[in-house]
Amino acid sequence: MKILIVGSGGREHALAWKLAQSPHISGMIASPGNPGIARVATCVPAPRDVSGYADIAQAHGVDLTIVGPEAPLVAGIVDQFYDRSLKIIGPTQAAARLEGSKIFAKQFFGRAGIPTARSFQVTSYDEAVHQLGSFDFPLVVKADGLAGGKGVTIAQNREEALIAIKQLGPDLVLEEFLVGEEVSFIGLSNGYSLLPFAPTQDHKRLLDHDEGPNTGGMGAYSDMRILTSAESSQIMERIMLPAITRMQREGTPFTGFLYAGLMMTSNGPKVLEFNVRLGDPETQVLMHSFKGDFLEVLDMLVHGEDAIPEQSWSSPSVCVVLAAQGYPEQPLTGQRITGIEAAEMGGAKVFLAGTKMENGSLATAGGRVLGVTASGETLNSAIDNAYAALKQIRFEGMHYRNDIGQKGLGRW
Ligand code: AMP
Ligand code: GLY
Repeated sequence: MKILIVGSGGREHALAWKLAQSPHISGMIASPGNPGIARVATCVPAPRDVSGYADIAQAHGVDLTIVGPEAPLVAGIVDQFYDRSLKIIGPTQAAARLEGSKIFAKQFFGRAGIPTARSFQVTSYDEAVHQLGSFDFPLVVKADGLAGGKGVTIAQNREEALIAIKQLGPDLVLEEFLVGEEVSFIGLSNGYSLLPFAPTQDHKRLLDHDEGPNTGGMGAYSDMRILTSAESSQIMERIMLPAITRMQREGTPFTGFLYAGLMMTSNGPKVLEFNVRLGDPETQVLMHSFKGDFLEVLDMLVHGEDAIPEQSWSSPSVCVVLAAQGYPEQPLTGQRITGIEAAEMGGAKVFLAGTKMENGSLATAGGRVLGVTASGETLNSAIDNAYAALKQIRFEGMHYRNDIGQKGLGRW
């Protein structure tokens, strides 16, 4: 089977690395890919629009395409592939509105009876200001459209709220602030059922102890113990399956990876957002710790349904992101990277993200540069393995969080 992976980050490197281990793979193309992906796939430049990916798939005789980022999904890549009877994993443009429009998503949660924060949708500055009176602070202000992780502000008072409304508006969701622990719950759907993956937790803030500005994600870990089995069942029954069933009933069935960003509140799990793709860096830990042939899981989706045995994700896994100096504001690029081979000696895997080849050596080319990923029999050992591995890596200005996975220690 020949596959095409769309994207260029650590998430796509993790997918490419895992899928390359499948005995059923006969070839792999990535567009645009990155230097890590280039070790297992042929990289071709990104086309000008999403129909260009279908051209690439046809030109290379690709059997199945997997899409990493949200932008091509929201732009309708899946519809283009379906028009040409090409196989692809991901939602149609209509179904991708679950991520592409916060207003659509909130209205959908209402129609499907999915628990979420109390909210109000507004389409003008005046309307937003008018609604401020009906919320307490902190108040969450969300831009309607895709904002690359910069579309949410938690306003502590009226002044901050007014600034956020100006910056993010006019189409906004104003939302009650929820308290609890965040969990990323990702599954794969064929339109009518959903295979849940291991629960994961992201670390969005730049600095240790969840301080500093929000980022694309400074690390993640997966561990079955993030959720009790009762909590997992609740999430499936109240959130994931109602979403799949309702999307189908509305004539826009959801296929592909559905990622619920959840808050585990004292009143049960509530949805903060749906993403219509895999998470980054959640995918790095999910791929590293998955025992089995991930292509077979994708194949199940294309050809029917089945259940992933729970032990597929029995070992905890940790990914620590190594970021460039100046990230997230203005990352410094062009710094030479060394030590990756030494870091991988003990079983860890270094997934490449913002990197490029420069004069024959690897250099930084973005904010999140590498994702050092390791598994272990316990979460503690996975953490130790990841941090031991990253000590081997050097580049000028490299920084990372020291507490990835700590929240998960001492659970139950
Ligand atoms: P989102 O893009 O909706 O996931 O929001 C980004 C981040 O903002 C989330 O990961 C949460 O940390 C935070 N957030 C979003 N909505 C809420 C909410 N209603 N209450 C508390 N925190 C939130
Ligand atoms: N890790 C957060 C995301 O992928 O959206």
